[in-house]
Amino acid sequence: MKLSATQQHRLNLELKPIFIGQLIVLDELTQPAFSFEQGEYKLAHAAGKSLTKEFIAHYAKNIGKNIFVYQEDYRSINFSLKDELTKMTRSLSIGDITKNASRQVNFLTMQMANIYKNPYDDELLSHQFQNSKNLSTLLLNNKGIHRDIYHSLAKQSFHYTHKQPMLSSILVLSFMQSLKQFSDKEIQNFFLASYFKDIGMSFIPREKFELSNLSDFDKTLFSEHSENSMKLLNGRVPLNQGQLNLIKNHHYLNLKIQALVRNEVYHADQEFLSGIESAIVSTLDILVAMTSERPYREALSHYKALEFLKRVISDEYPQEFKFLVVFIKNFFQS
Ligand SMILES: [Fe+2]
Repeated sequence: MKLSATQQHRLNLELKPIFIGQLIVLDELTQPAFSFEQGEYKLAHAAGKSLTKEFIAHYAKNIGKNIFVYQEDYRSINFSLKDELTKMTRSLSIGDITKNASRQVNFLTMQMANIYKNPYDDELLSHQFQNSKNLSTLLLNNKGIHRDIYHSLAKQSFHYTHKQPMLSSILVLSFMQSLKQFSDKEIQNFFLASYFKDIGMSFIPREKFELSNLSDFDKTLFSEHSENSMKLLNGRVPLNQGQLNLIKNHHYLNLKIQALVRNEVYHADQEFLSGIESAIVSTLDILVAMTSERPYREALSHYKALEFLKRVISDEYPQEFKFLVVFIKNFFQS
């Protein structure tokens, strides 16, 4: 049944988009859900009808990543997602650890999408922080599962802005652990700083992430995200000054790259002393971004990405860069 213009307009005010995969946490919706196709809402799922895995998979494959639900259902989905995550975290090390960690990573990624929509929700942010901290403990104690967890998340159809922080943070943790220079506590701190470093992206309108060419205004918007992340996190989650500093400056390598292109010398923020840890976080963030597909470009090979990164970090950290090459080769070999 086609909806009238008035009905369409009302839906526009009443509905909220949600990643289709999030429906997995509910058995049914109290109100109908809609797709948005060719500029209009279409009924996608009736109220009270059972939500099956088949429906979710079919919708994701044929219609899209987002479905539109009423506020009440939106709140129930978020609440159930949080509840599921808490339950999962309690039993992470019981049974099949790889399966548990993969599921936990997927749920954290869905919840991260909710945080991007509402970055001022204190309870949601601390919940995400605590649960990702527990995940990092599991990863630290189970080296053998890092590759599987990474690849399983990389395959999922989440929006790239929601997947990227977890993917790069798994690599940060895994690589730091392989270097055998850091304590578990240090690695955990860098994992968390890496994972929350892009939360300031929540101020950027979603459609900007699909563009290949950005206006000067958009570029400023993007370049401010690291400082915004630091401001958003400061005092709300237990991150120390070093972690906050790293978050604020996590794009320093990108700036170094831009300076290199312009034949200029890069000067870091005065209060920011880059160390090997910051270089690792920044390098792996760039590496994951370059080797993952974007709506406006193909993914590059790991070889190409490393060749590029060599120009910016191998002078300062020659030994670590050699280790990184070997690590990436092993991590991504099929
Ligand atoms: Fe970033």
